Amino acid sequence: MKKWICEICNYIHEGETPPDVCPICGAGPDKFRPYEETSDTPKPSSIDSLEDARDNARNILQGICGVYPRCDGHQDRICQRQAYGGVIGLGGAGSGQSFAANVLALEKIKLRTQLVGEHFSPSTAFDFFGVPLAFPVMGASTSGMSRYNEAIDELQFCLDCLYGCIDAGTLSFRGDTFFYTEADHPGLTAIEQASGRGVQIFKPREQDVLKRLIERAESIGCPAVGVDLDGCGSTNMAKAGQPVFRKSKKEIEALVRSTSLPFIAKGVMIPEDALACLDAGAKAIGVSNHGGRVLDGTPGVADVVSDIAAAVNGRAMIIADGGVRTGYDAIKLLALGADVVLVGRDVIRAAIGGGQNGVALQMKHLKQVLRSAMVMTGTKSLQHIDNKVLFDAPREGQ
Ligand SMILES: Cc1cc2nc3c(=O)[nH]c(=O)nc-3n(C[C@H](O)[C@H](O)[C@H](O)COP(=O)(O)O)c2cc1C
Repeated sequence: MKKWICEICNYIHEGETPPDVCPICGAGPDKFRPYEETSDTPKPSSIDSLEDARDNARNILQGICGVYPRCDGHQDRICQRQAYGGVIGLGGAGSGQSFAANVLALEKIKLRTQLVGEHFSPSTAFDFFGVPLAFPVMGASTSGMSRYNEAIDELQFCLDCLYGCIDAGTLSFRGDTFFYTEADHPGLTAIEQASGRGVQIFKPREQDVLKRLIERAESIGCPAVGVDLDGCGSTNMAKAGQPVFRKSKKEIEALVRSTSLPFIAKGVMIPEDALACLDAGAKAIGVSNHGGRVLDGTPGVADVVSDIAAAVNGRAMIIADGGVRTGYDAIKLLALGADVVLVGRDVIRAAIGGGQNGVALQMKHLKQVLRSAMVMTGTKSLQHIDNKVLFDAPREGQ
């Protein structure tokens, strides 16, 4: 049987001829071309440009992710196709509103140039709990990519994220999912292989399981560890016999006390939760809606991060993620009060299409654009990045 691929959305059709209409995006038959199996797909290790890495990822992720120039969770995108309880791919929950809200919230914010003054070379150095980073943008906690078109071996994916970020002078977080277990946890295995140079975020599993996992993260040398509190709605985890739970302040406190590592509470979207986590001893608040993958209908992260940062008021590190595709997006979140910015989907695509080198290229590109944005907005160092670089934000004295 022949296969045909839709050039618009990557849908693959099996049949002697292309379909009259693409069932996913409505494109006509002229948009379909014969689809070749991926045996001639270049090896990610031979990729040496971000463009090639993305083209390669588009090929490997056919039917899962279009690797569109604009990755915004729009309902026309291949990732937002019907998935009622099925695999979510790289998309968002439900209709994708929360995913889209992240991108739209960032787009609403406009940067102010400030051009007259001495020239300078911006400093982006950042201390992440004792680890010096060349810039405050890190790979997000992600997992599960081996389950999508068998795009990549799971351990290899984790290693590519870790080593690619290390090459670029930063670190990657690692995630946790239903097929990660205490006995076989690719995130932890990869961080161990990378001599502890990675940050592990666990799902909000049973307390005893979490404590054991956190202990292992500490023993392999992670600089920090955390829990994505917003993972508590995952039905996949329960189905796989690894239930997840909401966590009380007491339980978070018990996790914080169980380790000497700084504890990151990821998935916070309201100041009240941030303050509860702070009270429980968290050293970092991860402002995130999980890339819009856990609850449809939330605001974008850029809409909520400044209120949370104001409530926390310097008492914990603010780590924000959601919709960040460029260094311009990163400077916006930093200006709104984040100390660190995480990048999810673009790092995933870089790893799948270009392996470790793809991730390094992606992160280096983010750094270069962040630096250029700092020159253009007159911000010599990270400390200078505040809401003065944003239009319409209240500025001192106004
Ligand atoms: C495919 C995929 C898998 C993810 N897996 C995890 C995970 O295991 N743990 C976690 O804390 N967050 C996970 N996330 C959420 C990311 O850490 C991050 O919050 C999100 O990707 C940021 O949005 P962005 O992808 O638009 O940059 C995942 C996101 C994606 C897209």
